[in-house]
Parts: sequence; C-alpha cells; structure tokens
Amino acid sequence: MDHAEYVTKSLDYYENFHQSYHRKTFFVDPSSFLSPLAELLPADALVFDVGCSSGRDMLWFKKKGFRVMGLERSASLCRMARLHTDAAVIEADYRDFDFSTVHADAILLIGTLVHVPHPMVPETLRAIVQGLRNQGLVLLTLKDGRGFQQSDDGRMFYLWDKEAFLRLAGNLSASILHYQYGPSLLGNSDAWHTLICRLDDV
Ligand SMILES: C[S@@+](CC[C@H](N)C(=O)[O-])C[C@H]1O[C@@H](n2cnc3c(N)ncnc32)[C@H](O)[C@@H]1O
Repeated sequence: MDHAEYVTKSLDYYENFHQSYHRKTFFVDPSSFLSPLAELLPADALVFDVGCSSGRDMLWFKKKGFRVMGLERSASLCRMARLHTDAAVIEADYRDFDFSTVHADAILLIGTLVHVPHPMVPETLRAIVQGLRNQGLVLLTLKDGRGFQQSDDGRMFYLWDKEAFLRLAGNLSASILHYQYGPSLLGNSDAWHTLICRLDDV
C-alpha cells in the first residue's frame, strides 16, 4: 500500500468505527488542552472545530458560553456532533472545503492532521486558516515521534518532533502564544504536542 492508500484507509476508519471511536474519546475531559485557548478568547468568540468527531470539544466550549461550529468527514460522527451540541456541523472533507466563507475567532485541529503526510501539512494548514478572522487563533495538536507509525486498527499516524512541530507555526507566519507537551489522555503510551498560535497576517 502507498501513502495515499494508507491515508484513505485511516480516514475511512472514523466512519466505519464511529461508535467505538466515540465511546473511546467522548468521555475524556479535554480541559487540560482546551483551557489555555479559552483563556485567550473574548466571551462571544466563534470556535470552529475542524475534525470535530462526535462533538466533545465543541460541547466543552459551548458549555463555557462560546459559539461553536464543526466540520467532519464522517457522516455518522457529524450526526452525533449535532445531537451533542445542537450546533452547525458541516459534513465535508477539509481537503476541498472553501474555508474563506467562515470567519472564526479560533480553529481547533485536535488530532485532525495526524493522518496527513508530513510534506502536505504546511499547505493543508494554510488552507484551513483561511477560515479565521484577522488575528485569529489556531489550536493544533499532533503526536510526538519521528517518521510514521501504524496502529493496530490500521490507521497510519505521521509523527512530529518538537522542533518540526513548532516550525509549523513559522510556516503560517503565526506567533506562538502557548506550547505544551503531555501524555495521551486515552491511557496509552503516546505523547502529544499542543500549540496555540495567532495568525499575524490573514
Ligand atoms: C484523530 S481524530 C480526532 C477527533 C477529535 N478532534 C478528537 O480530538 O477526539 C481525527 C478526526 O478528524 C476527522 N478527519 C480526518 N480527516 C478529515 C478530513 N480530510 N476532512 C474532515 N474531517 C477529517 C476524522 O473523521 C476524525 O473525526
């Protein structure tokens, strides 16, 4: 299988196994990686969760009083996110979605780009941040490591060391406001980088 086939297989996993993915991830408390962003946002901010899965992080921001919307490729996860948040969730693939129609104050990319091969990530990020207002914020998380790794369920994960991860903010012409590194909340041996950056010039 080449990388393109691994990417398709990884993305299809979320629709094929939406129930088990939801059960595994929805009940995790995301406060440790969402609170630093919430503290930087004005009270009426619009938070756009790209790759929102069944809506855990949208719901967390909604409960804090923020406006939320989501985008998700899996039709079943979209339906679940709408049910959980009562908010707009666009069923779409971010690789061909026109982000310039959205004017969000913050975009969440929580694990969303883990299946994107390294060379394609800077360009993918640049397209997605078109969905931000001027001086908008991006919350990006990616898995720590080097190269790539296939999980037992067949998904291919592209891994990032700290230096390469932080260079992504430079590729966006964005200022880094916050960085943290920590273990996966899913109880496995993975570790994740988290970055909040502000677009200098959208
Ligand atoms: C690793 S999961 C992370 C889900 C969620 N953000 C979380 O933290 O639990 C990646 C999510 O992004 C979605 N996704 C991956 N590629 C996508 C694409 N090209 N367009 C839209 N959604 C995508 C998947 O369906 C899945 O819900």
